[in-house]
Amino acid sequence: MTAVATPRFVHVLERGDNLALPPLLLLHGTGGDEHDLLPLGRMVTPGATLISPRGQVLENGMPRFFHRLAEGVFDEADLRRRTDDLASFVQVVQAEQGLPAPIALGFSNGANIAASLLLHHPGLLRGAALLRAMMPYREPPAARLDGTPVLLLSGAADPIVPAANSAALAALLQGGGAAVTHQSLPVGHGLSQMDVGLLRQWLGSIQGMR
Ligand code: MLT
Repeated sequence: MTAVATPRFVHVLERGDNLALPPLLLLHGTGGDEHDLLPLGRMVTPGATLISPRGQVLENGMPRFFHRLAEGVFDEADLRRRTDDLASFVQVVQAEQGLPAPIALGFSNGANIAASLLLHHPGLLRGAALLRAMMPYREPPAARLDGTPVLLLSGAADPIVPAANSAALAALLQGGGAAVTHQSLPVGHGLSQMDVGLLRQWLGSIQGMR
């Protein structure tokens, strides 16, 4: 038997009291940490278990989930490897805690690695909410996402993610069979109250989330 070293992430695991709800996998943006999205997670699905890892890369002291060469230009080999690391972490936490597949809730850099998880580990996630995500790969693999619900919320005035880029990501995921809801909000890269309302609505619409 070969022993496989599972990459551990500094993380918060907050057990919810409503076991009928899928857990949320919270993935922060650049410069955030494992505490950043906990209040949002609690707000949009009270009672759900929250799994919140900290990205293992430091860029000028700011945690991220993978290396980049410049803003919006990713080190794709690093992203690919760290996507597998994050997938292993999720599987270990699920097995240790007896949890069903989580729904990813990622913001910015966290949304980008969540998109990569969807592409490279179909079936790992019960669904994914991608807030201000962009296409993670120049030549993305074909997605195989039969019916996986995906919420993509973009900012019409986002200086980091051009509209064509998020539209291409939506088309890629949809082409792979995901049930994509894509909305462009009249905001920039930051999160808004509109995101919270739409997230709540979308999470509520996924079967078993009530
Ligand atoms: C990224 O590097 O993932 C994106 O440029 C978003 C960001 O983190 O600023």
